[in-house]
Amino acid sequence: MSKEIIKLTKISKKFFGTYKDIIILKNVNLKINSGELVSLTGPSGSGKSTLLHLIALLDQPTSGEVFFKKKSFSKSTDDEKDLIRRQNISIIYQQNNLLSDFTALENVTIPLLANGYNWKSAVKKASKFLSLVDLSRRLHHFSTELSGGEQQRVAVARAIITEPDLILADEPTGSLDRKTSNQIFSLLSKFKSKNRAILYATHNRELANRADYKLNILDGNITRKNE
Ligand SMILES: Nc1ncnc2c1ncn2[C@@H]1O[C@H](COP(=O)(O)OP(=O)(O)O)[C@@H](O)[C@H]1O
Ligand SMILES: [Mg+2]
Repeated sequence: MSKEIIKLTKISKKFFGTYKDIIILKNVNLKINSGELVSLTGPSGSGKSTLLHLIALLDQPTSGEVFFKKKSFSKSTDDEKDLIRRQNISIIYQQNNLLSDFTALENVTIPLLANGYNWKSAVKKASKFLSLVDLSRRLHHFSTELSGGEQQRVAVARAIITEPDLILADEPTGSLDRKTSNQIFSLLSKFKSKNRAILYATHNRELANRADYKLNILDGNITRKNE
C-alpha cells in the first residue's frame, strides 16, 4: 500500500534581494507517495533546486508547511532534521557530488558509518551496492579517477545504501551525454520501490517522460501532468 512521503501545504518561498524580492513558489500544495517515480521540470531559474532543498529540509519556506512521512518539520531543530536526512532522505546532485579525497568504496561506506554501522559491515554492504551499480572493478578508485557516468553510479549507490524512503535528484544527468544519461536514469529507476519515492529534476524531456508522472514549475506554480 502506498504511503504519504512528502506533503507540502501552502508553501511560499521568497528570496529577499537588495533591489527586489523574488517569489519562487506561490502557495504550492503537493503530495508524493511511496512507490512513485516523479520528474520535475521547469526552465532554468524556475525554482527546481529551491523546491528540492525545501523538501530535503535543507531550507525553510517563507510560509506554509513541509511534512515528511506525515510529520511537520516547521518547529524541528537542525539536529532533528539532520537525523531524518541521514536515515531517510538521499540527495544526488549534478556533479561534485563525491568526496574527492576518498575512494568509491569509502564514499559509499560513509553514510553507513554515520548511521552506526561498524567498519567491516559497512564495507561489506558498500561493496555489494557498488556491484549493483556495476562498479565492482572500481572500488578503490578515487572519484577524480572515474568518468562522469561512473561518478554518478557511485552517487546512486551512496544514495541507495541507507535504503531511504525518499531520493531527491537535482539534474543527476545534467552533465552526461545522452547514452550515459539513459543508463544512469535506468539505474535510478531500478531502485524504485513500493516503500520509496523518487523525485528528480531534469531538463531532459525524454527522461522526464519516463516518470510515473511529471511535475512542472512555472512562475511559482506547480502543475501535474500524467501523460
Ligand atoms: N539564496 C538565494 N538568494 C537569492 N536568490 C536565490 C537564492 N537561491 C536561488 N535564488 C534564485 O531563485 C531562482 C530559482 O533558483 P533555482 O531554484 O536554483 O532554479 P532552478 O533549479 O530551477 O534552475 C533563481 O532566480 C535564483 O537566482
Ligand atoms: Mg537547479
